[in-house]
Amino acid sequence: MCGIVAYIGKKDVYPILIKGLQRLEYRGYDSAGIAILNGGLKVYKKAGKVSELVEYSKGKDVSGHVGMGHTRWATHGEPNDRNAHPHFSQSKHFAIIHNGIIENYSSIKAELKKRGHEFSSDTDTEVLIHLIEDIYENGNVSLDESVRLALGEVIGAYAIVILAQEHPEELICARKGSPIVIGVGKEQGEYFVASDATPIIEYTNNVIYLNDGEVGIIKDGNLVIKTISNEIQNPYIQELEFKLEMLEKGGYDHFMLKEIYEQPRSIWDSMRGRMDARKGFLRLGGIAEFENKFANAKRIIIIGCGTSWHAGLVAEYLIEDLARIPVEVEYASEFRYRNPVLYEDDIVIPISQSGETADTLAAIELAKSKGATIFGVCNVVGSSIPRATHAGAYTHAGPEIGVASTKAFTAQVAVLTLIALQIARHRGTIADSRFHQLLNELEAIPAKVERALKTDAITKKLASKFKDVRNFLYLGRGYGFPVALEGALKLKEISYIHAEGYPAAEMKHGPIALIDDNMPVVVIATKNSSYEKVVSNIQEVKARRGVVIAIVTEGDDVVKGLADYVIEIPEVDDVLVPLVAVIPLQLLSYHIAVLRGCNVDQPRNLAKSVTVE
Ligand code: G6P
Repeated sequence: MCGIVAYIGKKDVYPILIKGLQRLEYRGYDSAGIAILNGGLKVYKKAGKVSELVEYSKGKDVSGHVGMGHTRWATHGEPNDRNAHPHFSQSKHFAIIHNGIIENYSSIKAELKKRGHEFSSDTDTEVLIHLIEDIYENGNVSLDESVRLALGEVIGAYAIVILAQEHPEELICARKGSPIVIGVGKEQGEYFVASDATPIIEYTNNVIYLNDGEVGIIKDGNLVIKTISNEIQNPYIQELEFKLEMLEKGGYDHFMLKEIYEQPRSIWDSMRGRMDARKGFLRLGGIAEFENKFANAKRIIIIGCGTSWHAGLVAEYLIEDLARIPVEVEYASEFRYRNPVLYEDDIVIPISQSGETADTLAAIELAKSKGATIFGVCNVVGSSIPRATHAGAYTHAGPEIGVASTKAFTAQVAVLTLIALQIARHRGTIADSRFHQLLNELEAIPAKVERALKTDAITKKLASKFKDVRNFLYLGRGYGFPVALEGALKLKEISYIHAEGYPAAEMKHGPIALIDDNMPVVVIATKNSSYEKVVSNIQEVKARRGVVIAIVTEGDDVVKGLADYVIEIPEVDDVLVPLVAVIPLQLLSYHIAVLRGCNVDQPRNLAKSVTVE
């Protein structure tokens, strides 16, 4: 949530900030703003998208080589010009951009008000820059000291950047709970600061991820990193692997469509080097290290949010089915606040695309404090979650820009399948023949996903038929159930049509009352162990004149005779159904959203990286 980009060096800062903000817009798009230090401190900000900020700043003086930009996902204060970042201090000589929440802002604000401070926004952020100025003015300390001391008084989460008029060669950033990446520029003394590496990658591959509680001080061309308690740190420069093309649409109308189409590759990238069906080889390095722990675990707890939670549900089925370890799947936000029972021999698997989801991070900390082993499944290398875990396995989906998750989901499911198989193998709960069969099936998955992408045409036709309905129901059983949930989530996220995912058999305990001839019901009815039962469920829907759109295995004539519409996908082993069956559902949502004129990549109110609880 909220995107941050900043630059100090010799280049023109304005294009760096605008391009950076466009890359970060997936994090929030309620308002955008920039501050440029060039003699004075100039701030331009506007409610709405970055494009509106660009319009607004036309003809204005945006020259300068030091600056910062922000794209906002509103928490405190409605999304208007006034609440947009950057925020000024009392004297307007200091400015801040912030991602996160200052929880004790109201008590600090009250105190500062008593001292004559006046505030011009409703944000928690503005309070922090007033506090920094207050310490600077009254404490007779340097700029970085003022920032450090102010942060010592703050409760909450933040990633911040600060500029001050009197310090034209200085830029300060800090993080606690929200990410900050520092890019080390190719020119002497040049640095970039951002919420993630996407605005930086065009200029440099060398980055430093700030740790929680660290302050980065870039002054007169040098970078110093300190902790908030004033200990100097040795920065670790990391080389990024991803390329600029990965951040561009590559000829597709939307990132989401590009990412849907990337799945054969991103699934394969997540498995490549970790398995080889011909040799019967399977090895995830992270698991190997904890193999005995996994082998002896009495319980696995999976935590996640949104789509990652759905991948977790698939993993529950997989791990119980193949490795015979009891699994619980928890929403991170519930888990962290409900005083869960945890044991030292529990293994907790947090799943996250961004690696920054605040609730997931907090749940990890809770589980760690109880002694559990934390094994993460994450997509963004170097993000907070993999750094908070004991071990893990990355998904190699590449950067996912569309707010609605697609390729990250299938990459998560692919990696979780490998995890389940490796544990099963080690525990001896899977027969040799089944193990080899599944490795072969997994290797065939990218080609099957490629074929499933051919459903694009039919899903487009269906989209034009159903784009104006108000409700959708998605049903599935077994491995089809998490797919139903994910299909429904995709639709509501990007098209704003209400959709519910349900276990097909549960339909008769409620949702069946909703069914009439206006209610499209999407049923995952592939040939698998619950096929016959799903066919009965379809009949129940038809008996109530519901409109059935069935996802079926190629060549299935039985469901064809029952359903109103069928979408055929290649035959796939029961346990691998989610990887293939989700594809037409992603495409259906995409086409419906496009036809409804929705902003597919940046749906209203959502953000890709939810760094507030
Ligand atoms: C947000 C995103 C979802 C994502 C969820 C969890 O709601 O819009 O697409 O599934 O957060 O995010 P994570 O990065 O932890 O997977």
